[in-house]
Amino acid sequence: MKKTRTAIFISGRGSNMMALVEAAKAPDFPAEFVLVVSNDPNAAGLAWAAAQGIKTFALDHKPFGKDRESHERQIDAALRAEGVEFICLAGYLRVLTHWLVQQWEGRMINIHPALLPDFKGLHTHERALEAGVLEHGATVHWVSSGVDEGEIIAQARVPVLKDDTAEMLATRVLAEEHRLYAEAVRHVLKS
Ligand code: GRF
Repeated sequence: MKKTRTAIFISGRGSNMMALVEAAKAPDFPAEFVLVVSNDPNAAGLAWAAAQGIKTFALDHKPFGKDRESHERQIDAALRAEGVEFICLAGYLRVLTHWLVQQWEGRMINIHPALLPDFKGLHTHERALEAGVLEHGATVHWVSSGVDEGEIIAQARVPVLKDDTAEMLATRVLAEEHRLYAEAVRHVLKS
């Protein structure tokens, strides 16, 4: 089968990236992960990807200051040089420019650690606990210009337990994220 050449964007430890790369070992998985991109050259996940034999492209965003588009134009060039057809954002902690989103519209998805449309943005687990919700979870969605606003592809729910801390809740959600993201990639690239 022809597999879709896919890039993963990370900014940190990259546990969702690892789960995707593991899932892609199944012969019928529709994506092959050909490039891992990071805005942080020290992101822990980069070394793991390289050790798996996956190409990496790290470009620090800081020297670009407010010129986010120049930073992303260089990333975009790296994606095209590698023949990338699809992007999975997995803990990429930069808000993308309208320009990059337009380049990849319909070919870029993200995982967010909350049940969108609730708790867009950061610190979702703390905010879910403060709000007193009984259920929390994760969402995979298409990337559009509004942050965490694209069409929802799939969600996973977990209960919020009585004495949960944000860390406990994050761990429970993360385990679901790892399963959900691979499932969502299968769904999107097969349909
Ligand atoms: C995950 O919770 C993801 O949903 C969010 O950032 C976290 C990244 O974790 N966007 P990891 O780098 O995949 O381990």
